[in-house]
Amino acid sequence: MNDGGSINERIPSGIDGLDDLIEGGLLRGDTILLAGGTGCGKTIFSSQFINNGAVLCNEKGVYATLEEDRPSFMRNMKRFGFDFEKLEAEGKVLVIDPSKIGGVGLDVNLQYIVSKADELGATRIVIDSLPAFLSACEEKLEYRSAMHLIYELLKGHGYTTIMTVSVPVGSRSLGLGIEEFIADAVMQLESVVVDYELKTRFLVRKMRGTDHSKRYHTVIFSDTGLEIVPFTTQ
Ligand SMILES: Nc1ncnc2c1ncn2[C@@H]1O[C@H](COP(=O)(O)OP(=O)(O)OP(=O)(O)O)[C@@H](O)[C@H]1O
Ligand SMILES: [Mg+2]
Repeated sequence: MNDGGSINERIPSGIDGLDDLIEGGLLRGDTILLAGGTGCGKTIFSSQFINNGAVLCNEKGVYATLEEDRPSFMRNMKRFGFDFEKLEAEGKVLVIDPSKIGGVGLDVNLQYIVSKADELGATRIVIDSLPAFLSACEEKLEYRSAMHLIYELLKGHGYTTIMTVSVPVGSRSLGLGIEEFIADAVMQLESVVVDYELKTRFLVRKMRGTDHSKRYHTVIFSDTGLEIVPFTTQ
C-alpha cells in the first residue's frame, strides 16, 4: 500500500495540454472515470497516463486490459512509443492480461489487481474497461454496490485510478448512470463530425476540489499519443 502522499498533491496526468485545464494535474489518489464512444481514444489516453507516469514521473503503473487482448494492446500502444514490454522488463509497469481476470468474485479479482500493484509498488492503475471488468466477474453484484466496492478499495490504497466506460453513440447517459456520481472526476472524449470529418473533443465534466475548464477542447492524435488543445470550442 502506498501512503497516498499529501491529500492535495497534484500529479502530472501525462496527457499534453490537460494539466493546464485542471489546476496543474490530477489529485493523487482520485478515481477518474474516462467515458467516451468507441474509437475516441480512451485506451490511448489511459496508456499515456501509465507510460508517462513511469517514464517521466517515476510512478509505476498497472494496466488491466479487459477490452483488448494483451498482444494487440502491446502492439497498438507501441506505435505511440509506449513500450510496455520494455517497461515491464524494467519493473515499472505491469499489463494484466484479460485471462487473469474473471471466473471468480469481484472481490477476488480486485484483490488480484491490488496485490500486483502492491508487489510492483505501483501508484497508478487503469481498468480498461469498467463494464468489461464487471462482466468478467462471476459474481453479479448490483451495480452501485460493485462500484462502491471498487472505489473504496482502490481509493483506500491511495492509487490514482482511471476506469474507462464506453458510451454508445447518441447516448445521453455516460455509462450506467451511477459510476459518474461515485467517481472523483469524470472526463469525456467524444467524436463529432465536422465538415465530413470525424473529430474528437474532450470535456472535464466534473472534478471534485478543482476549478477545472468547463469547455470542450479539441483532441489531436499524433505519433506520441494524444494531445488536448487548450482553447477551442469544437
Ligand atoms: N497511429 C495513430 N495515429 C493517429 N491516430 C490513431 C493512431 N492509431 C489509432 N488512432 C486513432 O485512435 C483511435 C483508437 O483509439 P483507442 O483505441 O484509444 O479508442 P477507444 O476509445 O479505446 O476505443 P474502444 O471503445 O474501441 O476501446 C482510432 O480509431 C484512430 O482514430
Ligand atoms: Mg479501448
